[in-house]
Amino acid sequence: MIKFDFNTYVNSFIDENDYKTLMNRKEEVLDKFNNSTMTGWTKEISEELKNDLKNTAKSIKNSFDCLVVIGIGGSFLGSYAFDKMFRSYYNDSKFEIIYAGTTLSSKYLDELVEYLKDKNFCLNVISKSGSTMETTITYKVLKDLLKRKYPEELNSHIIVTTDKNKGPLREEVNKEGYKSFEIPNDIGGRYSFITPAHLLPLAINYDLDAIVKGYYKGKRLLDQAYEYAVIRNCLFDKRKFVENYCVYEENMSYFTEWLKQLYGESEGKNGLGIYPTSTVHTRDLHSLGQFIQEGNKIIFETFIKVTNSPNYVDYNGRELHEINNLVLDSVMRAHFSGNVPCLEIELDEMNIENITSLMYFFMLGAAFSGYLFGIDPFDQPGVEVYKKEVREALK
Ligand code: PA5
Repeated sequence: MIKFDFNTYVNSFIDENDYKTLMNRKEEVLDKFNNSTMTGWTKEISEELKNDLKNTAKSIKNSFDCLVVIGIGGSFLGSYAFDKMFRSYYNDSKFEIIYAGTTLSSKYLDELVEYLKDKNFCLNVISKSGSTMETTITYKVLKDLLKRKYPEELNSHIIVTTDKNKGPLREEVNKEGYKSFEIPNDIGGRYSFITPAHLLPLAINYDLDAIVKGYYKGKRLLDQAYEYAVIRNCLFDKRKFVENYCVYEENMSYFTEWLKQLYGESEGKNGLGIYPTSTVHTRDLHSLGQFIQEGNKIIFETFIKVTNSPNYVDYNGRELHEINNLVLDSVMRAHFSGNVPCLEIELDEMNIENITSLMYFFMLGAAFSGYLFGIDPFDQPGVEVYKKEVREALK
């Protein structure tokens, strides 16, 4: 179950007329959304694809020591964020998955090659364009290692997830005959959680049906997602230009990275948008907490609370998780008193259904918010600018 409180610590900051005007734009926004060609992520995926993903995941698990997933941005954050939330902090017994391709650090890649030298590993290279620099470089280095280790069986160690028809990776698949999956044309990177880009790595350790079911259950949160977009927009009008996502579980730290990409890339255009950032509590209360409480009043916060935890830790007769949430409630009151609006999203448990529904909710919110700002929430022309500079510099 997911509950939303966009009132208690928010209402006094919102202009009533502003709120009503934006709420009245719902039909217009939904119309744009429903007519967009980039909402493939709202469509159900086929049983055939689910079976292919399950069978491939099973064979990876049975045939290899570990899977190396190569991808960045929207081809990385969804499955990494999810996986991080559902693994144990220590003594994790799940199948090993290594995420690579997010850095050009030679120290990192050199150490990874050394680590993989004696492992029987499989590569899943993920890139919609098939030409992203970090992905391409990492893939080349690790493929060279595979070629040295398995000159005769290279094909069985490589799985490619990319565009159906175009790009260098699709050309390579066509030439070499690697096993491959498609990222549909009507789904952009940051909205691609429900594609093989994320579902294949996740199908190895998690119940794929539960992930898919939970994700589509997020559809029921459309009204709340629209209201969330409206509230954010009202707060922007009150010069609240930064949204801080606050989590109270360390393993949710990459969930907020996923959120940062989703909102940053969807909204940050035409000199507009709300800058998304995040804090992990209580750790960051001892650092950024000072700024939020007393610094420049450009911030509002969205707290993600998890009501129940399966892990019981006694502290002088009190349950530690209850204390963690008591701190969350106190922090919201304190920050509110410091002129910081605080929105709250409450999950009764951190389970697959809640998390995947929440992802769907946030994707709807990002799309609606973009339309309220009058920008296209599905493109990211700004990301290309640095890529072009790098290409020029590398010539
Ligand atoms: O959201 C996006 O489109 C980007 O963040 C991309 O996902 C990222 O740049 C990686 O692109 P690709 O999947 O083409 O390698």
